[in-house]
Amino acid sequence: MIDIVKFVNGNLRLNPSLLAADFANLESDIRKLESSGAEILHLDIMDGHFVPNISFGVPVVEAIRRVTDLTLDVHLMLSNPMEYLGVFRRAGADLLSIHIEAVSDPRPLFDQIRKLGALSGLVLNPPTSVERVEPFIDDCDLILVMGVMPGFGGQKFEPLTFDKLRRIRSISKPNLLISVDGGVGDKTIEACAEAGANLFVVGTSLFNGNIQQRFRQLSDLLKKDKGNL
Ligand code: DX5
Ligand code: ZN
Repeated sequence: MIDIVKFVNGNLRLNPSLLAADFANLESDIRKLESSGAEILHLDIMDGHFVPNISFGVPVVEAIRRVTDLTLDVHLMLSNPMEYLGVFRRAGADLLSIHIEAVSDPRPLFDQIRKLGALSGLVLNPPTSVERVEPFIDDCDLILVMGVMPGFGGQKFEPLTFDKLRRIRSISKPNLLISVDGGVGDKTIEACAEAGANLFVVGTSLFNGNIQQRFRQLSDLLKKDKGNL
């Protein structure tokens, strides 16, 4: 398991979402990300029920695990995540995130994830208030704030997300991963960092163009921001 205290430690990281990668050449895209300095990959699992889209499942996570040692952050957009924690962990997930909208109490799922030896995350959609996740903030390793309704890449960022990030940062322990997902790019990434995010899921804004060049450009925006912190 990754050491969460060392991993967070004031770092601001890009978290490439492979949903926007070239599925016919995943390994080649992963190599480009590795050579750019990526440390973590974001994998979007959709069931066509919790969200109106289907992405990829267990065999693809296994295939990715076979070709890389990077930390795998698995975002479960599933109506019944409890049933799938074990299979995705065995497939190679290091971090398993579940949606608050899919469960009444996430704590039993966090317990299960911990038993499986992985880190746990809790995700909230744009219409869901921070109050809904506040009681669980100390029970998990990551809070993931959606900047768009989940299901598709390439959507426009919802500006109310900034206030949610600020609120979560103000009440969180220092070693919490605060991630933002959806619509993160050149125009929004710095403001997300200023609002308190430390892990930035980037799909379209990274893969639309030369991956290595885009990784550098987006990282530079974060470095600039870190300088101001
Ligand atoms: C959306 C997914 C995101 C998606 C983000 O449901 O959770 O991870 O890949 O894509 P962009 O960065 O294009 O908004
Ligand atoms: Zn995602």
